[in-house]
Amino acid sequence: MEAITKQLQTLFDEAINISFPNLKDTHATIRPSVHADYQCNSAMGLMKKAKELGIEGKVDPKMLAEKLVSNLPENNLIGSNSVDKGFINIHINNEYVGQKVLSILKDGVSMKLDKKEKVVIDYSSPNIAKEMHVGHLRSTIIGDCLANILEFLGHDVARVNHLGDWGTQFGMLLAHLTEKFPDYLENPPAIGDLQKFYQESKKRFDEDKEFQKRAKDSVVKLQSKEPSFIKAWKLICDISREEFSKIYEALDIHGLVEYGESFYQDMMIEVVEDLKSRNLLVEEEGRWMFFTGKPKEVPLTIVKSDGGFTYDTSDMACIRYRVNVQKADRVIYVVDAGQETHLRTIFAAAKIAGYYDPDKVKTEFVGFGVVLDDKGKKFKTRSGESVKLRELLEEGIQRAEQKLKEKERDKVLSPEELEVAKKAVAYGCIKYSDLAQDRIKDYQFSFDRMLDDRGNTAVYLLYSLARIRSIIRKTGITKPIKEIASETKELVLNHPRELRLAKFLLKFPDVILQISESLAPHGLCSFLFELSVIFSEFYEQCYVIEKIGESDQVKINMERVLLCEATAYILSLGLKLLGIKLVEKL
Ligand code: ARG
Repeated sequence: MEAITKQLQTLFDEAINISFPNLKDTHATIRPSVHADYQCNSAMGLMKKAKELGIEGKVDPKMLAEKLVSNLPENNLIGSNSVDKGFINIHINNEYVGQKVLSILKDGVSMKLDKKEKVVIDYSSPNIAKEMHVGHLRSTIIGDCLANILEFLGHDVARVNHLGDWGTQFGMLLAHLTEKFPDYLENPPAIGDLQKFYQESKKRFDEDKEFQKRAKDSVVKLQSKEPSFIKAWKLICDISREEFSKIYEALDIHGLVEYGESFYQDMMIEVVEDLKSRNLLVEEEGRWMFFTGKPKEVPLTIVKSDGGFTYDTSDMACIRYRVNVQKADRVIYVVDAGQETHLRTIFAAAKIAGYYDPDKVKTEFVGFGVVLDDKGKKFKTRSGESVKLRELLEEGIQRAEQKLKEKERDKVLSPEELEVAKKAVAYGCIKYSDLAQDRIKDYQFSFDRMLDDRGNTAVYLLYSLARIRSIIRKTGITKPIKEIASETKELVLNHPRELRLAKFLLKFPDVILQISESLAPHGLCSFLFELSVIFSEFYEQCYVIEKIGESDQVKINMERVLLCEATAYILSLGLKLLGIKLVEKL
């Protein structure tokens, strides 16, 4: 199914070509419109090119617009055009709309790509031995959704977890581990609370000079891959990994492949040699720095004065790997806005070093704002510590259960159904309320708001979907709707609200395409919310099951059943792309 704006664009590009053959590389601009279904305002732009068009004297935009309309190639998409000054108002052909709704029901929505790309998308990326915090939660939710959308479009997507599993913090962890549990090789200790363990070792590191030295030695031993230290390091990584995987499991995050910082250790050595040999590094007080030449820049530290590597070094090796080995056409980083400077400097340095060609590979920083509590303060526990994600998810479940009970859903749903519903609601709400925001802005986390069933929330959408499903169930139709659609030659839509709903459904591919470029998922949330509202307005006036006169007999309006099913399909698909689990009953 091709996006309508794209099809219109092709038609109007052609019209421009035919109308003004000597005009090169001018593309039509198509937008959704309140005056019609879509609008083309290219005539306004063409006015500025009067000379190239060979027009003398005063240029009349209306005349230009009319010329474009008269030169449109034959098509079944446009029903009618009307010209208002220089604007062309486009009305989509009703027959086309009916056919496309049938095709959604028969074949679903799949989209054709101009070019299939290899996309490497870096998201979640928590740090070993440290708590996964709300920032990582945002990265996980946004990254997963973007990866779903790009994959749905047919791109080859590699979902990468860039774990912070290397670096100096391991020195103190390893020194502490080897001293506290000298027999750790034979008897690996079960460290229940890695956080506490981290804090203990940090305390020793800050207070004890001798320990500090031993910690530094441990880093060297780790980086030179001494087997016993590698074993100790793995032990610690596994404990964290298990914690992370519980969160991924709960949030239904799949397909994320781990390429932690440690993965690039050998490549970092190569990168340092390469950059040094090409004189791209500057030595400053024993450190080796990379300057990209931007004013007031913070240069990258590629080698520290003690010879160790840094976060910068690993990201240089990493971007090189993503381009050269993973063969990425697009490298996307979903990381909090605080790291924008770091990553943009990496992009600039990698470009200078020739690690990628910006004409062929796109590097994109997908930043997001910090999480605030409902009072607008930084999100912390009452005692000022950072909120533990697992506890937050747990609270979500409790709040969702409370909400469902308030609405007396426990009287309608079986205990098993209630169990499924409360998880879907809790996790769905947490994800949706994050995705529905413009990601760049700071985000206020409020269970009360996200569990509200009236606004632009997951609960509202899940209820809408459950309601549409129940409307369809009530018709008693047992034959699969797909079969009914296949047997339907023509879907005739007469009522203005039927048409409005159907036309809105057809905008879905445009929305998806747009997000694949803007990488801003909130557009999909707004679309689904508007779809639910438009559906409600349709259902208010268009009965699906209609009583005939005073009798008990009823008539089922099949074209409306089909519209209900198509709406449910698009709504479910949209929610799935957002990463939200569906529930049959709520
Ligand atoms: N581990 C980092 C953090 O928690 C995020 C890593 C982002 N990805 C990257 N390639 N630098 O802040």
